[in-house]
Amino acid sequence: MQAVPAPSLDGIGSLRTEEWIYDYLSAKDPQSIIPSRLKPRFRMPSFANIPEEDRRLLAKYFSSLKVEDWYLKEVQDNEYEKLTGKDAAQ
Ligand code: HEM
Repeated sequence: MQAVPAPSLDGIGSLRTEEWIYDYLSAKDPQSIIPSRLKPRFRMPSFANIPEEDRRLLAKYFSSLKVEDWYLKEVQDNEYEKLTGKDAAQ
């Protein structure tokens, strides 16, 4: 399978609140919240058209994925390197 450059959601609950994730999933244009440098077909899609209840449930679940700070930093560094091709330690 070909890799897509979507960020890992591992520990996302330590980075974003339930409300934030709900608003992000509900946005008609998620790139107005997080601008994307990716080609349109790889960008975060809008989930505004799925039932509100499902968006609430997804936000609740993903915001519950909390991790220790050191682990979150590792995940963020890996994501940064994946997205930019640059070494996060620099
Ligand atoms: C229920 C499914 C999904 C959830 C809960 C979800 C959640 C998220 C969250 C919370 C972020 C922000 C991460 C941050 O704050 O750093 C994000 C970003 C992103 N997601 Fe998703 N995502 C989902 C599905 C997808 C799918 C299907 C794709 C690709 C086809 C995708 C591609 C991306 C990309 C590329 C970004 C970075 C921002 C951008 O370039 O637009 N996501 N996603």
